[in-house]
Parts: sequence; C-alpha cells; structure tokens
Amino acid sequence: MRVLVTGGAGYIGSHTLLELMAQGHEVCVYDSYVNANPKVLDRVRSLSNGKLGDVTGDVRDAAGLDAVFSDFEPEAVIHFAGLKAVGESEERPLAYYDVNVGGTLTLLHAMDRAGCRKIIFSSSATVYGEPVYLPYDEAHPTAPLSVYGRTKLMAEQILADWSKQAGDRAAVLLRYFNPVGAHHSGEIGEDPSDIPNNLVPYIAQVAIGKRPALQVFGTDYDTPDGTGLRDYIHVVDLARAHVAALGYAAGNAGCQPFNIGTGQSVSVRQMVAAFERACGAPIPTRTAPRRAGDIAAMQADPSRAKAAFGWRAEHSLDEMMASTWRWQSQNPDGYGNG
Ligand code: UFG
Repeated sequence: MRVLVTGGAGYIGSHTLLELMAQGHEVCVYDSYVNANPKVLDRVRSLSNGKLGDVTGDVRDAAGLDAVFSDFEPEAVIHFAGLKAVGESEERPLAYYDVNVGGTLTLLHAMDRAGCRKIIFSSSATVYGEPVYLPYDEAHPTAPLSVYGRTKLMAEQILADWSKQAGDRAAVLLRYFNPVGAHHSGEIGEDPSDIPNNLVPYIAQVAIGKRPALQVFGTDYDTPDGTGLRDYIHVVDLARAHVAALGYAAGNAGCQPFNIGTGQSVSVRQMVAAFERACGAPIPTRTAPRRAGDIAAMQADPSRAKAAFGWRAEHSLDEMMASTWRWQSQNPDGYGNG
C-alpha cells in the first residue's frame, strides 16, 4: 500500500518506517521536525531500500496536507504526529489540544477530500487512567489523568465518529504501553531533546555518564519491591503492530481499539538490573518521592490484537535493554553527531 506516515521521523515513527518498507509498502513521511531530527531519515534510508518520500509540514496545515495527498495519493495514513510529554501537557494545555486534537481533525478533513479512508492512530494506554482492574483490556473504562491523556481520548472519539459515516472508513486505535529499546543496528533510537522524562532514556544517559544517578520515583508502592510496575514493549514489536494493523484496516470498516503491550509488568528496580546486565556496569540510583500523577502499576491484556490481526510482542526485556545500550553507546549525543 501507499502509506503516509505523519510524525514518521519520531522515535516510534522511524522504527515503523523500516518495518513498512521491509514489507514492501511505499512510504512517505510528513513531519514538522518540531520534536524530531531530519537526519533520522538518512539512517532509515541506509538501513532499507532507500525509497522513502518525505515532506516537511505540520498536521494543522490543511494546504500542506492537501498537497501531499494530491502528490502521493496514499491509500492509508499512520498518524503519529503529536505532542507527547505528560508534564508539559499540564503547563501548555491549549498547545496539546491544538496539535493532538486539532491536528487529527485537520488530517481527517484532508483524508475526506482525498478519498483516503484508512487510518492507524497512535494512542496510549494512558487513556485508561487509574486501573479499576488489571490487566487492562480494551473494555476497561477510560478516565485519563492528564491533559495529554485527554487529547488522545478525544482524538479516539473523533476517529470513532468519523469512521461511522457511509463507506468503508476504518480507524485502528493502537493504545501503546511503554515503548523502549532501539533498532537492532543501533542506528536509530530514542533521542530526547532535553532531560529525559522517561525511565529508559534516563537510565541510558546515566550509563553513558551524562547524568550522575537515576532517581527512583517512589519506593512505597503496593508492588513486590515497592517501585512502579509497567508493561514495557520493544519499539520494533510496536512498529510491527502498525504494519499488522494496516492489513486489518484494509479489510475492515469501523473503529476499534487495541492494546499494544507484552502482557508482562516489570518494576523500576528490575529495569535497572536488566540495564546493568546489558551495559555491564552498575547504574547509580537514588530514592526519590513519588512523581505526581504516576500510578502504581499498568499491564496490558494484548490478546485482542493477537485475535484480530495476529500480532504479539516477541522481544525479551534483555533485548530491549541491549538494543538501547547499543544505540546510546554508538550515539552518545543521539542524532546530534550523525
Ligand atoms: N521513573 C523513575 N525515574 C525516572 C523516570 C521514571 O523512577 O527518572 C519510573 C516512573 O515513576 C514509573 C516508571 O519509571 O514507575 C516508568 O516511567 P516513564 O516515565 O518511563 O513512563 P510512564 O509510565 O510514566 O509514561 C509512559 C509514557 C506516557 C504515557 C504513559 C502511558 O511516557 O506518554 O506511559 O502508559 F502516557
């Protein structure tokens, strides 16, 4: 298929480009580079057959979208473009509604004008909020705890209503758990522009000597070792979920949510130990108070995605950490040096 990938130069987007191209799809990236480095596309080209289109543009720019729909004529869109920092979303709520909700609306209008009826949406398990039960299945109530989470849920609701119109419109909502890891080559990975908010990029920067110690946010949770539990998923598995979902969208109509996780949960302390195995050195840690807005535990029931389009996570925790370390040690300054 011809697939337009908004936000395709970002962390998850860039890994998805490689998996799409490996499966023979024709791909064009549409990215504003607000939170991505254009150098990533050179790396993607050198790791693949190189046939990758790219257009610089913002998802809120209707004319820019019309131009790429007219030139590339995509049969489907994978929509990653958006702002993603939970803390920042509380400080700049309107920016988050503008890009994440407004951007999705503008994109859907452009798809309708161009007659494109299939979309895969980059959503988040954060739409569920405080667990009523675990593991979360897709029927779990949605009650996001942050502005960021609400923008994802609103975009999901817009996509659901859009898909109900006449025709074979399909929207596949992928609710990601915690993506970590990097491409096995070590050539592409997560490149935070500032102090990392997330656990694994932070640990990786401690390992490389950029930061003195990891702060462990909360050691008094009701979990086996007192630290938070999350369902970490290898970014390459996550990327493959998009390719599988594309096949599902092509043959189906309507809107469906799918959890994309492993079904396992791992504590902060276990993550540190796994990273130490990967890099062969101790990671200094300090205990710190709980981070505002964090919940004790999250875990996916990913069985629906398996039943619908045959996807399941295949990479182990050690592979997540080994690939992160390869990326971080080969690229101490991310794409900055590239
Ligand atoms: N943690 C630390 N120290 C750090 C960073 C994180 O102890 O420096 C802990 C957190 O308290 C939590 C775990 O590591 O227990 C994971 O934290 P992350 O920040 O890596 O991930 P979150 O689960 O908080 O958030 C992620 C994404 C969000 C998304 C959410 C939904 O970053 O975008 O998952 O599941 F909304």
